[in-house]
Amino acid sequence: MDIYDLINQKGGVGKTANAIGLGAALAEAGERVLLVDLDPQGHLTEALGVPESPDDKTLKMAMLGEWTGDPHELVVAHRDRLHVIPTNIDAFLLDRGLYMSSGREHRLARMLEAFENDYDVCLIDCPPSLGASTDAALLAARRRPHRRGGLIVPVEAEDSSIRALRLLLRQIATLGAVMGVDIDVLGLVPSRFDVRDGAVVTSTLEAFRGLGEPPVIGEIRKRKEIREAWRERMSVIEYAPDSEAAGWYRELAKKVRAA
Ligand SMILES: Nc1ncnc2c1ncn2[C@@H]1O[C@H](COP(=O)(O)OP(=O)(O)O)[C@@H](O)[C@H]1O
Ligand SMILES: [Mg+2]
Repeated sequence: MDIYDLINQKGGVGKTANAIGLGAALAEAGERVLLVDLDPQGHLTEALGVPESPDDKTLKMAMLGEWTGDPHELVVAHRDRLHVIPTNIDAFLLDRGLYMSSGREHRLARMLEAFENDYDVCLIDCPPSLGASTDAALLAARRRPHRRGGLIVPVEAEDSSIRALRLLLRQIATLGAVMGVDIDVLGLVPSRFDVRDGAVVTSTLEAFRGLGEPPVIGEIRKRKEIREAWRERMSVIEYAPDSEAAGWYRELAKKVRAA
């Protein structure tokens, strides 16, 4: 199973929407996909209309060792080949619990080992912060022998996004050095933008494209179908399969798997 993080400490940049769109595109292409809702706000769980985990069996409890059952029991099948580990209301306690735990950076990677042969791809929808659970997600997506994976970074086309990206890359480099692992940034995905919004948007896009490293691996413009699909509790691939947005996610899926 190859593990990818949808990551950016900024909120509202498209992590969750892209986790769903990309996951659905990969599933459509025949891959077995596991989506992990690591954001305590539970937007991925909500957007797919998946029931929250029961209070006695949650992702947070599994990661903190408070529940030691089979992690497969956490999984909900949203569609064929598109499965979800949903949130629970206890998720806001995860970061705090991790700070008090030994080997906290490894706790998500360890739990996901249970799924190694069940899925081709795992997409982790990260919280909008650089806390302990994000570190655990970074470590889960580290470079591993015979596995693909890494970080997919949705970015907003705003001036402040460049600085936010530098901060994220610094965090990744620091954690990688401390833990002695390599963490690959597959690329940036400018998301939710409208080029008609003018120079701030277009110049930021140019700045991202001009970086070269990390490369821009997809562009997901603002489209009403993405919001509508969210409201209908499904992916845009299913809600509007012939839409431009669905096409962009299929392109992104190809880029990610070719990386
Ligand atoms: N490309 C897009 N076009 C239109 N709306 C979008 C797009 N991407 C995300 N959204 C909407 O914007 C909001 C924030 O996106 P979300 O994916 O939740 O960001 P994040 O997970 O980074 O906080 C959501 O309501 C989502 O439906
Ligand atoms: Mg989100």
